[in-house]
Amino acid sequence: MDLKKEAAQKAVTFINDNTTVGLGAGSTIAHIVNFLSEEVKKGLTLKMVSASFNTHQLLLQKGFTVQSIADVAKLDIYLDGCDQVDENLIALKSGGGIHTREKLLASMAKQFILVGDEAKYVQQFDTTYPMVIELLPEAIRYVPANIQQLFPDVKTVLRMSDKKEGVAVTDNGNYLMDLWFPVWPNLQQLNNLIKGITGVVETSLFYNLAHKAIIAGKDGINIIEKIPA
Ligand code: 5RP
Repeated sequence: MDLKKEAAQKAVTFINDNTTVGLGAGSTIAHIVNFLSEEVKKGLTLKMVSASFNTHQLLLQKGFTVQSIADVAKLDIYLDGCDQVDENLIALKSGGGIHTREKLLASMAKQFILVGDEAKYVQQFDTTYPMVIELLPEAIRYVPANIQQLFPDVKTVLRMSDKKEGVAVTDNGNYLMDLWFPVWPNLQQLNNLIKGITGVVETSLFYNLAHKAIIAGKDGINIIEKIPA
């Protein structure tokens, strides 16, 4: 079995009957949907909500009823993949460009669990992925100018669409800007500093949000738990 599928199978064991479950995006989450639909056939009852258009469509295909995010204030559990997660459960979720909705669901959840294969688990973030920000279209010059003042070495790149001419527009009608740091600054301060700039909606840095990570590797499944403060 592939490692993402193994991680997904383990993640499903954390989902209880009669609960509200949030799901993020990606191939690991698609495996979770497939496993869950088998459990539902055996009698499991769940309320579902998703941050992702693709996951939402897959849930509908599998016969789930999916609630709108706007109708939910609390989740029992939120499961999502990531680009990278470190040993302190700080995660980067830049690839999908849907981090604002993902972070909203993560914030609503009693349990936020990251799920992935061992390639995602790193001691420290490397520079393979940028941090991405969602920003108001009107702030397209103001925001990078202010980021550059705080971090002179950062490279800011507006994310373009590869399926149409022009800029990539988020599900919220905003733009995305990738921030490439040659060396990662202090992560504890980074999210707050960037979010403090007017026009920034949200960043893809998930600091102090996840409670657990389920990481599948060649030698088995590793469950990393948040160390209580
Ligand atoms: C995107 C994400 C996704 O959750 C992540 O890319 C999913 O990866 P995979 O397909 O390996 O499950 O955070 O920003």
